[in-house]
Amino acid sequence: MRVQITPGAKVEGLVTVPGDKSVAHRWLILASTARGTSRLTGVPPSLDVRSMAACLAAVAPSARPALEAWARKAAPADEKGGSTWNDAIGTSASWPLEVEGEGRSALSPPVADLDCGNSGTAMRLLAGVLAAAPFRSVLTGDESLRSRPMERVADPLRQMGAGIETQGGRAPLVIDGRQLQGVRHRLDVPTAQVKGAILLAGLAADGRTTVVEPAPTRDHTERALIALGAPVEVEGASVSVERFQHGGFEGEVPGDPSSAAFLVAAAALTGAALTIEGVGLNPSRTAFLDVMGRMGVRVERAIERIVVGEPVGTLRVEACTGLQPARVTPEELPLVIDEVPVLALMAAHAPGDTWFLDAGELRVKESDRLTGVAEGIEALGGHAAVEGNDLVVAGGGLTGGRARAGGDHRLAMAFAVAALAADGPSVIDGMEAADVSFPGFAAALAGLGARLEVVG
Ligand code: S3P
Repeated sequence: MRVQITPGAKVEGLVTVPGDKSVAHRWLILASTARGTSRLTGVPPSLDVRSMAACLAAVAPSARPALEAWARKAAPADEKGGSTWNDAIGTSASWPLEVEGEGRSALSPPVADLDCGNSGTAMRLLAGVLAAAPFRSVLTGDESLRSRPMERVADPLRQMGAGIETQGGRAPLVIDGRQLQGVRHRLDVPTAQVKGAILLAGLAADGRTTVVEPAPTRDHTERALIALGAPVEVEGASVSVERFQHGGFEGEVPGDPSSAAFLVAAAALTGAALTIEGVGLNPSRTAFLDVMGRMGVRVERAIERIVVGEPVGTLRVEACTGLQPARVTPEELPLVIDEVPVLALMAAHAPGDTWFLDAGELRVKESDRLTGVAEGIEALGGHAAVEGNDLVVAGGGLTGGRARAGGDHRLAMAFAVAALAADGPSVIDGMEAADVSFPGFAAALAGLGARLEVVG
């Protein structure tokens, strides 16, 4: 789907965003492997989460009816060419999902390969669960996912005793689940997906399992496990877990802060005030607000409740009067890993150069985002370059132009948001990719005042 964006309108008002896919992935796994009933609301109908639900339905017979019923509701009413225009998405928070769990030991062999679609998180977290399930399963995905590195998760799970074959380090993954032994594993790259996989495997392992992170990453797995009563210990950079079978639980998935980031940027770039309610405010996800703060965007965060260990509340964006360039350090990069595209596109509107240091991990996301961001900025009439593993964005504004999402949801949304403040109109190709994490994105932006129209 091709959209045309006409700058000049403010993006302002009050909004909610769909549920957080990182949290939803983990809660769906935990609900499907619980012993007992779980009641989840706000599970987002994003494509990645639907892939996770379909994989779990294939291996967790007791959870299957609820997951399949939810998936039928989550399929978009495809009127304007993709759920990114579906303004009914907001109602998904009221689609309850009541999952019956019979425990990890009740998982059963899938009859076909498990298709994780575009979702690296689904593949890596599921690898951790299936490594301990006593049968063979095969995890596969789309072309993008089949090109991404999987030894980083296969290697520690093998050390724990699982049989795992990759295809030259990539998916499909062939997993022969076995009784696992706890290990102490130091991650080579900071990655919450691999940390989560090892911790989920550790729940079924003999002895203690410890993950040591080279830098902090999002901590949703630890928080959920602690909330469910698991014997988790967090000490500095290491997280340990021991064998544990959790029971059912209840909660509403918080709004996705990474999705909120696009709307915060849209408000900032159009000089408007915006309030986002019901959003996840886990500190391991809100570092992008610190970077935006250094760029001159003031956002108040108010935590209102804790749900299954996750802080949830309201973001209030003040009307921004001018952007500044910034430096994003190697230490903070893992905590803004998903927001680099939108931060970089904002930076194109600041005066001066903005640096993202040591951002090489962006090359192995849903697309090569280092190259994709730089190319998108150039296509919209700005300047950016990749220097080694650093990204440098020259500010000065965008003229407008035509950029391609290349099948990457976060690039599609970052380009659309940046176009709101360009000198002239822009066209973004492949806007439907937004459905991967933010179904209803175009409808949400238009509902807040942006001028977007479908042109092909
Ligand atoms: C995720 C972790 C991040 C992030 C991804 C979701 C997760 O990846 O990019 O979108 O839910 O654990 P890594 O921490 O593996 O780099």
